[in-house]
Amino acid sequence: MTKITAAITALGGYVPEFKLTNKLLEEMVETTDEWITSRTGIKERRILKEEGQGTSYLGIKAIEQMVADYNVEVTDIDLLICCTATPDMPVASTACYIASEIGATKAFAYDLMAACSGFLYGLSTASKFIQSGQYKKVLVVGADKMSSIIDYTDRTTCVIFGDGGGCVLMEPNEEGFGVQDEILRSDGNGRQYLKIDAGGSILPASAETVATNKHFVHQEGQQVFKFAVSNMADVSAEILENNNLTGDDVDWLVPHQANLRIIDATARRMKLDKEKVMINIQRYGNTTCGTLPLLLWDYQNQLHKGDKLVFAAFGGGFTWGAIYLTWALNPKK
Ligand code: UT7
Repeated sequence: MTKITAAITALGGYVPEFKLTNKLLEEMVETTDEWITSRTGIKERRILKEEGQGTSYLGIKAIEQMVADYNVEVTDIDLLICCTATPDMPVASTACYIASEIGATKAFAYDLMAACSGFLYGLSTASKFIQSGQYKKVLVVGADKMSSIIDYTDRTTCVIFGDGGGCVLMEPNEEGFGVQDEILRSDGNGRQYLKIDAGGSILPASAETVATNKHFVHQEGQQVFKFAVSNMADVSAEILENNNLTGDDVDWLVPHQANLRIIDATARRMKLDKEKVMINIQRYGNTTCGTLPLLLWDYQNQLHKGDKLVFAAFGGGFTWGAIYLTWALNPKK
């Protein structure tokens, strides 16, 4: 029996209109465009300003884009996974709501939480459902409304994150294209360095947790940076080795967009030319689960059938990993 591979057959993306530029941030906290650009590579990020809209809004918009561009029949979707660190609500799945809103009436749906590695883990999970032979169309959404958990008086985090999301449809592929290999890792000792202290079961919300800003992201940047640089580069080099590939063989690195310096270090370890590295951090910042599908969305017209892609991510938890995938589509334009 030939092995079933899970390939990406359609994709979409969405970012809100409002641009929070470095110049605007200079007026909000003590920072400079020069500091942000040189330390992170970010120039602007998008913020979802619409009152009462959460992460599901970003996901639904991305799916609507995919449906329009790729003629996807939503009623055929078997499963919808929403990868997010900012669900619409702590209880009641965002994925279920998205599935109902788009009319994916036959799908079951659930959320997947792995911070900035969420979409990477989601790709892996979706491919396993496809490979089982039981599911034919699995939609993976990666979206985050980071502005809902960021303290805009904390210059160490507010310059980094933005809102946005994307999605990919995965289907069985008869030619063997799609997910070829993966390395996924986690280390719970890392949670002290990147977390939201309150609002969970350890420290439920109270007047005090609100007054002391404990519902916002807290990050020890340097510590996270250290782990991110070494671990993301390690797994990216390892996945090449495991598949007898060199940097020359790889067509695209699809790296999580947390910091341009982390991305550069990963590409260097893989001995990859700069032109083969997907980058949009300058326009969107770190959209957590949104970064990888937003890269595919931005670069979709440069991707060709058979291209070899390496996805790599690192995030809170800690969580990290790399996926090697071959592209199954020809450019639309
Ligand atoms: O995606 C999930 C995983 N997250 C990551 O991968 C993020 C990893 N970490 C990073 O990308 C970097 O650590 C940051 C971009 C968050 C920070 O850059 P850094 O080069 O590590 O800066 P730092 O934290 O070591 O701070 C250097 C200095 C400090 O001042 P002193 O102590 O040297 O006087 C900070 O207070 O820069 C100061 N600083 C700022 N200055 C201007 C921190 N934030 C800012 C700011 N503007 N926004």
